[in-house]
Amino acid sequence: LEVDVTKSITKIQPTMFGLFFEDINFAADGGLYAEMVKNRSFEFDKPLMGWEQPNTKRLSQNKQSGYATPINILENKTNPNFCRVLVNDDKGYALVNEGFRGMGVKKDAKYNLSLKAANHDGAIKKIIVQLIDKDKKVLGETSIIPTSNAWKTYSAQFTATQTEAKAKLKITFEGTGTIDLDMISLFPEDTWKNRKNGLRKDIVQLLYDMKPGFLRFPGGCIVEGRTLADRYQWKNSVGEIENRKTMINRWNVEFPKKQTPDYFQSFGLGFFEYFQLSEDIGAAALPVLSCGMACQYNTGELAPIEELDPYVQDALDLIEFANGSEATAWGKLRSDMGHPKPFNLKYIGVGNEQWGPDYIERYKVFEKAIKAKYPKIIIVSGSGPSPDGEYFDYGMQELKKLNAELVDEHYYKSPQWFRDNATRYDNYDRKGPKVFAGEYAAHSTIDNNLITKNNWESAFSEAAFMTGLERNAEVVHLTSYAPLMAHEEAWQWAPDMIWFNNLEAYGSANYQVQKLFATNKGTDLLAITNDGKPLTGQNNLYASAVKDVNTKEVIIKVVNTTATEQEVTVDLKGSKLESKGTVITLASPNLTDENSFATPKKIIPTESEYKLKGDKAPMNLPAYSVTVLKLKLK
Ligand code: AHR
Repeated sequence: LEVDVTKSITKIQPTMFGLFFEDINFAADGGLYAEMVKNRSFEFDKPLMGWEQPNTKRLSQNKQSGYATPINILENKTNPNFCRVLVNDDKGYALVNEGFRGMGVKKDAKYNLSLKAANHDGAIKKIIVQLIDKDKKVLGETSIIPTSNAWKTYSAQFTATQTEAKAKLKITFEGTGTIDLDMISLFPEDTWKNRKNGLRKDIVQLLYDMKPGFLRFPGGCIVEGRTLADRYQWKNSVGEIENRKTMINRWNVEFPKKQTPDYFQSFGLGFFEYFQLSEDIGAAALPVLSCGMACQYNTGELAPIEELDPYVQDALDLIEFANGSEATAWGKLRSDMGHPKPFNLKYIGVGNEQWGPDYIERYKVFEKAIKAKYPKIIIVSGSGPSPDGEYFDYGMQELKKLNAELVDEHYYKSPQWFRDNATRYDNYDRKGPKVFAGEYAAHSTIDNNLITKNNWESAFSEAAFMTGLERNAEVVHLTSYAPLMAHEEAWQWAPDMIWFNNLEAYGSANYQVQKLFATNKGTDLLAITNDGKPLTGQNNLYASAVKDVNTKEVIIKVVNTTATEQEVTVDLKGSKLESKGTVITLASPNLTDENSFATPKKIIPTESEYKLKGDKAPMNLPAYSVTVLKLKLK
């Protein structure tokens, strides 16, 4: 192989390798958003879902029934329900929350409880709150004296005495009478950046460690809704937490498996928090909004063109929310929420995975309005679900005619497809729209059955493909694996990049590949050739090379997709290099190997010192491996 270290072909965009976040697989509620109480404000379709009253037979959620715990309705339109508890003298009445497949608590960790209560006639003397395990053993306890007959927020803290993945929150009462409760909430004290009621630290750390170039949010199909009424509306996700209207998550229904729909969006993780997270992890924010089309796999409902104004206004207002001064209405809200400085938004996505003439027609309306007011904002447009076929070709042609800036392509394909398509962008028009490979993942198949595992074959095949993304950095500006994360016991889609349960999280082999590329992306593309041609599968090898002008390094990536070890030598031309370098290897002997909760580090990179031989770099490439060679420029 040959690399001319002096010849920079093009700049690598800082956004090259990023993250695609969607609230699927419990990624937000029950995942990244560290709230431990499910249905904290009694707003699920079944208002007592997630709650049990084990010590009374008088279970009811019907306010007419007069039973022990009816749900009453407030005038508040976005958080109308609260829980009216009628504590009789039947000893031991308790209200128990099951959490999101349980609550993960850690020994000696502190937990912050808060709740709203109205203690009508002062009859309830004390509210006792405990963490319990499955045998009802108490793992932590605190109490609240409800002093007011009007709504008041109370908070308390307690420490867990034991580690438990499936704890529950138990609430009991001293005194008999009526008390109203709402927004019953429990968070670990230890959150990302110690933000009160913030995000799960271990999961954000995994994201941060990737040094992602961007964060796309809030999805995915979730942006579109099955109908227009249940599309994601960012304005409902900002402002006071308790006024963010809970709604059912569209990902319940598609894979019903066993349970009644119990996956809702509290919007505790809303657009402000997404912007803040992007900033925290050094990623450019990339929000995507409804373009007035519901999911075309579902109803495909369309907002008529003459009724598109509110959708377009949402986009304009979002830009004001992110970038406007405090003198603007939406900029003021951002400031009031704790971020006076603008978020410096540069991108906005119009529609998720939409296709066909209906999309193009709507895209044009958005483009005109956004560019008229915010000419510098880069618009991301969609190209539909598949990277091939009639709809894709139509969309691409139309978007080209419109001088679209960035087009989002999605592909969930076999590992073989990824290996075969490492050349996908080699012939893309350099003058046409730039590419955002916004959702991709290799889905393994055995005997034509989809395998939902994050196995090593899928991961190294993605790596082979990613050398193609990198080699085409001139046209490919953003890329992201999808979906990002999944709860071990509550997923609707797999494979996923990060897996978590209530106590732990780990990066899959695919995560390790993403991280390796993202943390070694460099600043300038170099050519790496074999007989003058790029290495795109000859001998089942794939390669790319970059230079980092900041760290003064040359970084070479070679992927060996065969079951046998191979040797290559890279001739380095141009600048002089230090003789000592570093070689990072990510390898595993079997195609079906994977990381798991039991062996989260089965497939992780190993790093060792490397010795250059003059201007030749011999590389030993283990079977099924991704190798990154880093050499310092003198
Ligand atoms: O990533 C899962 C889903 O795949 C996304 O929501 C959608 O955009 C795509 O179809």
